[in-house]
Amino acid sequence: MDLQNKTTVITGGASGIGLATAYKFASLGANLVLGDIEEGPLQEAVSRLRDTGAKVIGVTGDVSKEDDVLALRDAALDEFGGAHVIFNNAGVGAGPTIGTPKKVWDWVMSVNVDGVVNGINAFMPIFLEQNEGHVVNTGSLAGLGGVPGMGAYCASKFAVVGISESLYHELAMRESAVGVSALCPGFVKTRIHESTRNMPSGLRSYAESPEAQLLGDMSASVVKAGIEPEVVADAIADAIINKKFWILTHERAALRTTEQRLEWMRGAGPTRINLDGATKP
Ligand SMILES: NC(=O)c1ccc[n+]([C@@H]2O[C@H](COP(=O)([O-])OP(=O)(O)OC[C@H]3O[C@@H](n4cnc5c(N)ncnc54)[C@H](O)[C@@H]3O)[C@@H](O)[C@H]2O)c1
Repeated sequence: MDLQNKTTVITGGASGIGLATAYKFASLGANLVLGDIEEGPLQEAVSRLRDTGAKVIGVTGDVSKEDDVLALRDAALDEFGGAHVIFNNAGVGAGPTIGTPKKVWDWVMSVNVDGVVNGINAFMPIFLEQNEGHVVNTGSLAGLGGVPGMGAYCASKFAVVGISESLYHELAMRESAVGVSALCPGFVKTRIHESTRNMPSGLRSYAESPEAQLLGDMSASVVKAGIEPEVVADAIADAIINKKFWILTHERAALRTTEQRLEWMRGAGPTRINLDGATKP
């Protein structure tokens, strides 16, 4: 799909991968609708993009709330008269498998999984009706293999990969022209390690706990060693234009992770996880 004059909606568009993708889509002539839970950074992103000549609006909201995602859709329709791409990108990370309170698991799942479901439910009827559109769902390498220290995040990203594969097959069965991609990056230089900044107020005490701070500090080093978000943005645009399902910005690590699972299933012992291996393409 050519992105010229198409309307692209990006959740979590105020930072990191979402923001880099907004610049990429704008450079290809797309209209932009950016959603984000952080009002200040969102308004700043919108104003900077406008300075470059981009056609863009920002809508503050929480992807885990169905009504907020419907409002995002309605804003796109009101401003640009249509919608062609939904990039379900907003996401957060927190919590190892051992010792993470259930309400923190719920928060991660609500943003990373419910956010994707809300995006699909809001936009798919429009895409099916016009038989044109593309859904990009944000998984991760952590959605292709389990990673220590990231139980809740892995659970959510495995779910996103599964939802995306199911959606692909459902669209194929309908012989629909609508596309879907699963974005599964390794580490990317963004603010993902500072996700607790967006925790609901009821989880503040967890966000400020030594365990959460330690996890943030540990993940900061690998996130900072990751690839630039602009590289991910280029790969996303390429997948939409050329209708590719898998977006593997760290292809070697993604394939190795998958091969190692297969070898484990076939009886070989599990391989020790090396997070540094997920920082390079
Ligand atoms: N950075 C990495 O290493 C990496 C690797 C694999 C996958 N990802 C995924 O990429 C996506 C983008 O993250 P990023 O790395 O750019 O991090 P980021 O923190 O820089 O950006 C995430 C954006 O999502 C917004 N957001 C958070 N919760 C929200 C909510 N409930 N509703 C709406 N917006 C919300 C944040 O305000 C922020 O602007 C996430 O889904 C993340 O899991 C990141």
